[in-house]
Amino acid sequence: MKIVIGNDHAGVDLKNKVKEELRKKGHEVINVGTDTLDSVDYPDIAALASEKVLSGEAQFGVLICGTGIGISISANKIKGIRAALAHNEFTAKLSRLHNDANIIALGARVLGDSLAIACVETFINTEFEGGRHARRVGKIEKEV
Ligand code: RB5
Repeated sequence: MKIVIGNDHAGVDLKNKVKEELRKKGHEVINVGTDTLDSVDYPDIAALASEKVLSGEAQFGVLICGTGIGISISANKIKGIRAALAHNEFTAKLSRLHNDANIIALGARVLGDSLAIACVETFINTEFEGGRHARRVGKIEKEV
């Protein structure tokens, strides 16, 4: 699977760990940065990763900032992106089953590395249930 991963300065370490795990599992990872601790603005990273998901270049996105909040809010402003801020495997799983989320957002200052990695693996390996949930996702996508 092709997965895009992006992060701000708060998420560099966690990004590297997630990236390594995904590559070990045979996934292709597109890294849109950042790779240094110099301060960057998370909306810029959210836009870069979202573009890869919307173009179909990546099947899913992983976005990381300190809390996961700013980067998920930013991604959710982009039409077609459904970014889920996950705190555990349950929310990661339900965001796919019910919301057809195409990006998982994680807080590097909130989650331990192994929990974050487990959330990503659960996320990418869970299929959308469709049915009544498709109707609701359709309503999310409608312009207001
Ligand atoms: C950066 O210090 C921090 O504000 C950012 O990583 C994120 O937590 C914002 O939501």
